[in-house]
Amino acid sequence: MSIRYVEGTKQFILETAETCYQMKVDGMGYLQHLYYGGKTGQSDMSYPFRTYDHGFSGNPYDMRNNRDYSLDSMAQEFTSFGVGDYRITSFRASFADGSRCAEFRYVSHEIIEGKYEIPGLPSAYDNGETVHTLIITLKDFAVNAEVKLYYGVFEELDIITRAAAIINAGTEPMWLRKASSMCLELPFGKWDMLHFHGRHCMERQPERVPLFHGVHTLSSGRGMSSHQHNPFVIICDRDANEDEGTCYGLMLMYSGNHKTEIERDQFDNVRVITGINDDRFRWELTSGDTFYTPEVILSCANGLTQLSHHYHRVIRNNVVRGDYKLKHRPVLINNWEATYFDITEEKVLSIAKKAKELGVEMFVLDDGWFKNRNDDNAGLGDWIPDTEKLPDGLDGLIEKINGLGLLFGLWIEPEMVSEDSDLYRAHPDWAMTAPNRAPMMARNQLVLDLSRKEVHDYLFDTISNLLETYRINYIKWDFNRPISDVFSHSIPSSRQGEVQHRYYLSLYRLYDRLTRKFPNVLFEGCAGGGGRFDAGMLAYSPQIWCSDNTDPISRLTIQYGTSFGYPACTVGAHVSASPNHQTGRKTPVHTRGVVAMSGTFGYELDLTKLSDEDCAEIKEQIKRFKELEPIIHDGKLYRLSKMRDTSHYMAWQYVSADQSRAVLNIVVTNPLANSAPVHVKLKGLLPEAVYSVDGEFECRGAALMSGGYTFKRLTGDYPAKQLDIIRIK
Ligand code: GLA
Repeated sequence: MSIRYVEGTKQFILETAETCYQMKVDGMGYLQHLYYGGKTGQSDMSYPFRTYDHGFSGNPYDMRNNRDYSLDSMAQEFTSFGVGDYRITSFRASFADGSRCAEFRYVSHEIIEGKYEIPGLPSAYDNGETVHTLIITLKDFAVNAEVKLYYGVFEELDIITRAAAIINAGTEPMWLRKASSMCLELPFGKWDMLHFHGRHCMERQPERVPLFHGVHTLSSGRGMSSHQHNPFVIICDRDANEDEGTCYGLMLMYSGNHKTEIERDQFDNVRVITGINDDRFRWELTSGDTFYTPEVILSCANGLTQLSHHYHRVIRNNVVRGDYKLKHRPVLINNWEATYFDITEEKVLSIAKKAKELGVEMFVLDDGWFKNRNDDNAGLGDWIPDTEKLPDGLDGLIEKINGLGLLFGLWIEPEMVSEDSDLYRAHPDWAMTAPNRAPMMARNQLVLDLSRKEVHDYLFDTISNLLETYRINYIKWDFNRPISDVFSHSIPSSRQGEVQHRYYLSLYRLYDRLTRKFPNVLFEGCAGGGGRFDAGMLAYSPQIWCSDNTDPISRLTIQYGTSFGYPACTVGAHVSASPNHQTGRKTPVHTRGVVAMSGTFGYELDLTKLSDEDCAEIKEQIKRFKELEPIIHDGKLYRLSKMRDTSHYMAWQYVSADQSRAVLNIVVTNPLANSAPVHVKLKGLLPEAVYSVDGEFECRGAALMSGGYTFKRLTGDYPAKQLDIIRIK
């Protein structure tokens, strides 16, 4: 059993293959955090804690003269508010009498087989592994509020999921101001934080900084998980590297406003709190109501590589769902960077025809296919094919595309509306706008208020209708502006603080209904590129367009940052034109192929304009990707270059699940004159096995991992090399 309760010491011990998590109910009934890290045998991990008088940190009333006990210095599983712990908190609420204090003590617990679910929210599911759930109930008897803490222990995966439910157990209403998903305390050690910040066209840039005294905040209030701060953070030992050192990951499974706070306090205790962003959040709980928080996927590993492997595995097997979960993802051609809005049937078909000749499997028609959509100023909301651009209609085009032997995919941006659209003219109040205020425009469009039932139903019917009317195999679901002017015309003023979260509850339900109704359709998420690249979206769309920046050199750091938490099979990546449309940089088509192969792989350029030489290379690339896909998508990733190497080169490697094949990739980003050749040590091979190294020579795995491999000098503009390491003995 991966969860044990020790009656005598009132201790909870959660064990996975290589980690252990311990907490205990103390004499006062508080739920203390004791330990999270490598396995400790049967040890009771309360021994490292010593209590003493902390001076200006006060003591709970029950302790009277015992000044050694203070909530302000204690490691806790769920925090109080307003009663003497002055650090960041996971909970804030106001009560009918105007009070705001709350503190929770242990009431009961239950241990159940299998993984809990969270009503209305996506969560990691049990995929045949050993999973147990622990639910601990805490209560504040003064205000009659209850908290249930959920722990999902995925034993073989070294994953513990966390979530919380807040229950109004009283008779009067209460108002939640903050309801975080979890608190993690690190009472000992010196820690760095590795987080993934960015901007449009430059998402998930890794940044590693030592934790200073005070509070670090990583958050989004943009109505989307955002380009700016991904809801994933790693706290690692200051000396941790790819191969060793304690690393904790906290991945919030949520696509809306989120906040992670990390406080290093006066006693060097580190507290991490993550969940829904509490800015502008206010949720009314009437008597008997429950509020569920989103889930956090928590992991602890030895080294960053192992931590990434834990996340890649759980996302691939326990987050992503549906027919395409483990299936080959069709190699696609998307017309966006080839035509932008300037679509004609003739152009589209000429690209599709060429694509088929080169081995592409699916054509995706991007933005601009519907009525009045000649630029990004009009048309969103009216999902009716433009018969001027497509004289035989969408069905006519699909028939011709299918006739070429290609599957067909379509772009939509359902959550948005243009002012210049029939939908907006009919229902102006469906757009998110605040009363008596002209809204902020972004890309000249507005966001539909999906928290409204009519909007939800309209979108379900509209998308169902598209999928029923046309033979569509794939949907690219876009979201091209942040949310502002948050206000719903359908709920009373007292509930306006709920709109943003209600929006996401409705979006998840919409996605859930659609993916259940159309299990054969592959959904790809998108938000101006990778502005909503998170585990919440991955529960419905197995892949997400990683960035609007398709320059392979920019993509190296974007995909590198993304790789810490998310596997290659989720990363939408395409070969685009050179010079690149976002950076103007010229790169060889080979390099573009090597980089895009570390994702779902496709093309996004006018293939009819390419030289015969480039076309021949593309034909080869597609063949190669199909051969390598199982290694890249189902194997293990090893990052072979460090962050500081990336100004010179980037090297990375995939190893198949049975370790019989590996792919070694290098892209030189800045060839240096007369420099030492790039040398890397391979990882993850079988030490005793003999491998053929790209047909060049044969060598034992142990030798390649200890002695490494020296690349031939690579010169010119952004050269790349992809080597096959194949086991022969
Ligand atoms: C967003 C997407 C692009 C493209 C355009 C179309 O920016 O990220 O890939 O679909 O919208 O308007």
